[in-house]
Amino acid sequence: MAYTHLLLEQKENILYITINRPDQLNALNKQTIEELNKALALADVNPDIRVIILTGSGSKAFVAGADIKEFASFGVDEGRMLSRSGHKLLFDFVENMSKPVIAAVNGFALGGGLELAMSCHIRVASDNAKMGLPEVSLGVIPGYGGTQRLTQLVGKGKAMELIATAAMINAAEALQWGLVNHVVTQEELLAKCEEIAKNVAKNSPTAIASAYRSILAGFKKGVNGYEAEIKEFGQCFGTEDFKEGTSAFMEKRKPSFSGR
Ligand code: COA
Repeated sequence: MAYTHLLLEQKENILYITINRPDQLNALNKQTIEELNKALALADVNPDIRVIILTGSGSKAFVAGADIKEFASFGVDEGRMLSRSGHKLLFDFVENMSKPVIAAVNGFALGGGLELAMSCHIRVASDNAKMGLPEVSLGVIPGYGGTQRLTQLVGKGKAMELIATAAMINAAEALQWGLVNHVVTQEELLAKCEEIAKNVAKNSPTAIASAYRSILAGFKKGVNGYEAEIKEFGQCFGTEDFKEGTSAFMEKRKPSFSGR
């Protein structure tokens, strides 16, 4: 599969996806969103891939937002469509993937860039990263899940201030807020993500997918997360991974999970 705005590299069972529009600070235009959807959908069903690391090309930006030049002339209906299709193709899609996606935030993560990082399951930032949702400075609001996911991650008070001020916070503040899990130097960023990815890849893919579905269930309206957990827990007992994991424990050896 050939991509115009993405670079893909697989190292063992880790897939690196690099958004590659450095001259536009990796801004998310329609084509990039569609290509990400394709690449992620293929990765999700590829049994040779256990974890995805998503980053931006160059040393300046992860993603500087949705492509402002592309939507500047839109009207109300096109605006609504832009948001709805973005949720479907990318932001909800990433969050609901069965495999962990790690965001390697290597610089500016603004607007849709921060929304993309927040849709990922794990976030690691380089110490030069700057994060914010500056949409209100353009007369619009975060439309790719930012009003919801920022609030879930950092709480209502901080989300209301960050969004209304359109301010950027640095990596140290993002770490303190719980917006990212780790901050390292830019040189160490991919190595840190790879270390996390390798620790993830040792474990049962079916169990990780089950655990993520349970966590996300708790954020859905009208869904009881505890009930979802009970159901997912029970289903684990029907997997080959469960048999392998428990047998390996009793036989005092390392498990080798098939992901079935
Ligand atoms: N959409 C479209 N193009 C973008 C972009 C975006 N979100 N962010 C950056 N770019 C483009 C710039 O227009 C510029 O392109 P050009 O050389 O063709 O004019 C190029 O990327 C480099 O950006 P530039 O603004 O010159 O870099 P800078 O170092 O001076 O500033 C930022 C960096 C991130 C502070 C600035 O680019 C910016 O504010 N970007 C928009 C952030 C934003 O509002 N995002 C939310 C969108 S909803």
